[in-house]
Amino acid sequence: MNTPSQSDRIIIFDTTLRDGEQSPGATLNVDEKLAIARQLARLGVDVIEAGFPYSSPGDFEAVQKISHTVGTADGPIICGLARANRPDIKAAAEAVKPAAHHRIHTFIATSDIHLEYKLRKTRAEVKAIAADMVAYAKSFVNDVEFSPEDAIRSDPDFLYEVLEQAIAAGATTINIPDTVGYTTPTEFGALIRGIKENVPNIDQAIISVHGHNDLGLAVANFLEAVKNGARQLECTINGIGERAGNAALEELVMALHVRRQYFNPFLGRPADSEAPLTKIDTRQLYKTSRLVSTLTGMLVQPNKAIVGANAFAHESGIHQDGVLKNKLTYEIMDAQSIGLTDNQIVLGKLSGRNAFRTRLKELGFDLTDQDLNKAFVRFKELADKKKEITDWDLEAIVHDETQQA
Ligand code: KIV
Ligand code: ZN
Repeated sequence: MNTPSQSDRIIIFDTTLRDGEQSPGATLNVDEKLAIARQLARLGVDVIEAGFPYSSPGDFEAVQKISHTVGTADGPIICGLARANRPDIKAAAEAVKPAAHHRIHTFIATSDIHLEYKLRKTRAEVKAIAADMVAYAKSFVNDVEFSPEDAIRSDPDFLYEVLEQAIAAGATTINIPDTVGYTTPTEFGALIRGIKENVPNIDQAIISVHGHNDLGLAVANFLEAVKNGARQLECTINGIGERAGNAALEELVMALHVRRQYFNPFLGRPADSEAPLTKIDTRQLYKTSRLVSTLTGMLVQPNKAIVGANAFAHESGIHQDGVLKNKLTYEIMDAQSIGLTDNQIVLGKLSGRNAFRTRLKELGFDLTDQDLNKAFVRFKELADKKKEITDWDLEAIVHDETQQA
């Protein structure tokens, strides 16, 4: 039988509602978090990190509500973040308790720079705290994840010792964070390999990775980590998160999907296997991206991979000609595979009500006839002033109209 670390499937751990919400200006209220959690469940993520329950009463309430409503028997694992101390862990345990499958994710920094300036603790103290707090979390739940924060800048030998202790104390997932987005693909792959080779009990845990995008390398780093044994990826929708953000879920999932035959051998699968590497329903990606963007107020750049407005648009005549003859000339994936329709209808002043209604439906808006009529009038007014009406314009029109109602 395969040990957890030999799994041939990639676990998608979504942290949009925790690390993603740490994006400056991206605060979400409880209802908004719930709406996103529901959509993440439809998308098929394995784990939703729903928040940091000790950080505020609102976050506690959100994690508890999500656990209650989204954490059903056939739903995702609901996870709460906790620093490695008792009050945090207790709050996380209480908040995730209503979920059928629940996890506590506890962390403490292991790099010397964090130990000296932030924690003011010795390595021996940190190692002991990590083991004690994993054991404490284990007294509430079976599923415990441990992260050595700033792993990438930690002394690897010390890191191996901390991980060994955390697994011995009951951690079932050990997560390796590149907290400051500093690593490179080759270096990160080597660290994951080093962990596999030097942590004696590593086979009892899943290796997870978590990374920030300060140098724009988070997704590339994760893919190299997969090749070297990582089986859980921590990511966010649209790559939102602290500073330059986290690894983008849609990019990771589509890279693993489109290039599955390249990745198959690293997961011990036959090279030509067509079986998906994740449980994600990729046709829900675009809708999820739009929802997160609308509720957080964080715009998606037009050239953003997978979900940007231009990701499936062809502009130059040469490209258009090629695509009309055979899509494969300039397309490596179908627009439908992420939930878009094939032909992009460009809405302008000559568009009719039917095209308008169809586009709104594609964006997830099902308006009453009365709301549709009002929105259509606003659309025509705007189309007289603007060459092309974008999805952003449509969303703004619908939100204005439905909020006035
Ligand atoms: O970036 C980081 O190190 C984190 C940890 C809490 C996993 O977000
Ligand atoms: Zn992070």
